[in-house]
Amino acid sequence: MDHESVKVVIARRELQTPEIVVLELAPADGAKLPPFEAGAHIDVQVSDDIVRQYSLSNAFEDGGVYRLGILNDPNSRGGSRTIHAQFAEGDEISISLPRNHFPLDMSAAHTILFGGGIGITPMIAMAYALKKAGKSFELHYCCRSSANAAFVDELASQFGDRLSLHFDDGADEQKLAPAAMLQSPREGLHVYVCGPTGFMDWIIDTAKQAGLPSAQIHFEYFSAEVDTSGAAFEVFAAASGVTVQVPEGVSIANALKAAGVKVDVSCEEGVCGTCICDVLEGTPDHRDHFLNDEEKECGDQMAVCCSRAKSARLVLDI
Ligand code: FES
Repeated sequence: MDHESVKVVIARRELQTPEIVVLELAPADGAKLPPFEAGAHIDVQVSDDIVRQYSLSNAFEDGGVYRLGILNDPNSRGGSRTIHAQFAEGDEISISLPRNHFPLDMSAAHTILFGGGIGITPMIAMAYALKKAGKSFELHYCCRSSANAAFVDELASQFGDRLSLHFDDGADEQKLAPAAMLQSPREGLHVYVCGPTGFMDWIIDTAKQAGLPSAQIHFEYFSAEVDTSGAAFEVFAAASGVTVQVPEGVSIANALKAAGVKVDVSCEEGVCGTCICDVLEGTPDHRDHFLNDEEKECGDQMAVCCSRAKSARLVLDI
């Protein structure tokens, strides 16, 4: 794990649906866990060579636990499958301290939270934070069916009519219609979305088309296809003094690692932000889902696990 790690115990494990396990993590040594803000995630050391990020889904109270909801993803590269199969109550595991790349803007006049499938997890922490602060918000939870939905009783009791459930197999009138919801967005509206890539793209595109500024559209992808196609280019790692060629099909991170340059990576899919580094020269070809439009436009940083180059050469501060 590239970040400071702490030992925790799985204090509670509950299978909320056949595919979603909820884990509550308590400190292993009896000390208190540090607090976190809504939107934060932790790295979980799943095995010697697998680290995965999961959003924290509870309202943290002093002396409390960290709660995760983990989908047994059929496309898992080993992380969620291993957790479902092997992580048991009482086990001690290593996690990172919480980091927040998906913070809430508490100055919003109104906030709409969209959670698709397991993407509901950061939205739950956000809804608790907004409720506690007395803010105006609504929470939309979209699932294939009620049998696939976790946390429903808790959400209904905590958030009442601010919660809307949308099931793909349900009646037409309960289906999510973001274009209608977001048309003529009111002043000070902020939108947050997390879920499968297609769901997120749908909400983000709809919000943009409705005229919502991208600074008011917040998102966190948790997996993505990596496209490493395109012409070869050169990278000079300025801090290391190493030059590498990056051929088609190879990431900058892997080309640098093969040349002995230490590169911190985690998701390797352009969604977590661990590998973001400063660009000193050249033009990145951004392929990540972490930086926002303005940051990509600026071009002074890039995700080296997936992004490539539009220029023949990049100089990176690494
Ligand atoms: S390692 Fe996660 S964005 Fe690059």
